[in-house]
Amino acid sequence: MKQPITEIAKPLVAWYKLHERTFPWRENPSPYRVWVSEIMLQQTRIEAALPYFHRFMEALPTIKDLANADEDLLLKLWEGLGYYSRVRNLQKAAKRVMEEFGGELPDDYEKLLTLNGIGEYTAGAIASIAFGKRVAAVDGNVLRVMARLLDDDTDVMDTKHRKQLTKLVNELVPEGYAGEFNQGIMELGETICLPNAMPRCLECPLKDYCAVAGLERARELPVRSAPKQRRVEQRMVFTIITDEKTPRVLLHRREKNGLLGGMWELPNALLPANSVLEDWGIPVISTKPLSTAKHIFSHVEWQLQGTLVKAKSFTPKDGFQLVLATEWEQYALPTAFKTYSKNIPMLLNGEEIQ
Ligand code: ADE
Repeated sequence: MKQPITEIAKPLVAWYKLHERTFPWRENPSPYRVWVSEIMLQQTRIEAALPYFHRFMEALPTIKDLANADEDLLLKLWEGLGYYSRVRNLQKAAKRVMEEFGGELPDDYEKLLTLNGIGEYTAGAIASIAFGKRVAAVDGNVLRVMARLLDDDTDVMDTKHRKQLTKLVNELVPEGYAGEFNQGIMELGETICLPNAMPRCLECPLKDYCAVAGLERARELPVRSAPKQRRVEQRMVFTIITDEKTPRVLLHRREKNGLLGGMWELPNALLPANSVLEDWGIPVISTKPLSTAKHIFSHVEWQLQGTLVKAKSFTPKDGFQLVLATEWEQYALPTAFKTYSKNIPMLLNGEEIQ
């Protein structure tokens, strides 16, 4: 006989207390640390986020430090994590917390929702984990666990369905253990109720409550409609190095708004990129093709072709900057350019690359 899912809180919280993994935001779950960790964990795996979290907390230990941080430092701390609007929103919200909430994150779900970059999931996570408020935090893990518990094949991309499910989960969150319950479902989704491959139902504390425990059917859930096709852009990426005694490399600052807004990048252009070097005023000595690369963003795929350009010394146009080897480390370049940027320190030292 299956047990009713209205009763899952007790076994789930008990299991979580025994099996929770140790993370720095769990050892010291201050509202600020929970907030930053939840923002980092959106679109980033826990193991990948950990070193970033440590570095971030060391550089900016308080909300006030975050509010006052220099933009270049912020981007540097986020370099490699991607989705840079996350860190911009963090700072915008930190400024508002300083101005409107006396420097403390509000403990109220609705007030949290008014802050930049804090949606229903993050507001629920902060309110429950840091403040013990009885509110759900529904992420992809929770959607998967619930779809399986209920044998529900409704499309989890459907907003109406998510709303209904959030309402249900809100009713399941137990008084006094909201943070443990929410993190327990997430932890279950990350370690037991795994996506795609057969979940580890034998080890699951909720198998007696689950409609599909141990069945092939579990693999088919949740049902998720195909995401929209990404636009493909073919771009030429230029590594432009001066032939001075101390060579410099040309960087370009992207427009403030849009993809990778305000970040430094290697100059690049949509193909065919016939006259861009001329347009940018580069006194070209020689060019050499470099390798191809690919980078996938949420809505665009960049197919990249590299070109190494040797140029005479010149004065860069607005938005461009020539950077010395000694200054190179200060610039946060998006991961999309790594294939080419990883060779730049060698080039600046006068070494040849292939
Ligand atoms: N994924 C995102 N936030 C999490 C949390 N607090 N616990 C477990 N997994 C998570």
